[in-house]
Amino acid sequence: VPVIFRQLFDSKSSTYSYLLGDARSGLAALIDPVRQQVDRDLQLVEELDLTLELVLETHLHVDHVTGAAELRERTGAKVVASERGAPTADLHVREGDVVRVGAIDVRVLETPGHSEDSLSFLAGNKLFTGDALLIRGTGRTDLQNGDPGQLYDSLTQILFHLPEETEVWPAHDDAGRCMSTIGEEKRHNPRLAGRSRVWFVDFMNKCRLEPPRLIDVALPANRACGNVTTEVSP
Ligand SMILES: [Fe+2]
Repeated sequence: VPVIFRQLFDSKSSTYSYLLGDARSGLAALIDPVRQQVDRDLQLVEELDLTLELVLETHLHVDHVTGAAELRERTGAKVVASERGAPTADLHVREGDVVRVGAIDVRVLETPGHSEDSLSFLAGNKLFTGDALLIRGTGRTDLQNGDPGQLYDSLTQILFHLPEETEVWPAHDDAGRCMSTIGEEKRHNPRLAGRSRVWFVDFMNKCRLEPPRLIDVALPANRACGNVTTEVSP
């Protein structure tokens, strides 16, 4: 399948969004779009002669408001989320489901632990990990019914069983790194390489992190897929 692929960045929240398209049918999906970037994203979709069919959410974000509802309103795209995620999504998916973007199969992997609704999406050798697996890091586990033991299992029992050359495309990177691979993270992720489950749980429980600045706005808004009637102050 000839795939069109773009990584997009929102500098305010350090969020990566992704455009995934099937060049032959022209059908496309946006993964984790940011509401303030909807115009930019739709312009790219148009310039590449694509039709936005799906918006895929890896989880309910606490650091930015999703562009899902606005994209749905402007294009008719369907919003896909975990059955534990946004109740207002059009399609709720779970482990093993396959979502089709034209001729591209996107496999749904449940990878909870950062949040109870965390999904990863596998399209060919591209893995979209949300905030479960980050580059040389992991998502936090102290919010949204997070659970460090569960995250360790998601990462080591599910994602690390994928082929080493699988590309890792995360939802964030504060250090400006764009991608990694499963093999690279197995060998060099300081929270996981050579670390036991007990070590990981202890480490995560000792992390003292500030609550995200936007959580009180973003979480309710994202339950509504970032509904356009919700005001967001930057
Ligand atoms: Fe998150």
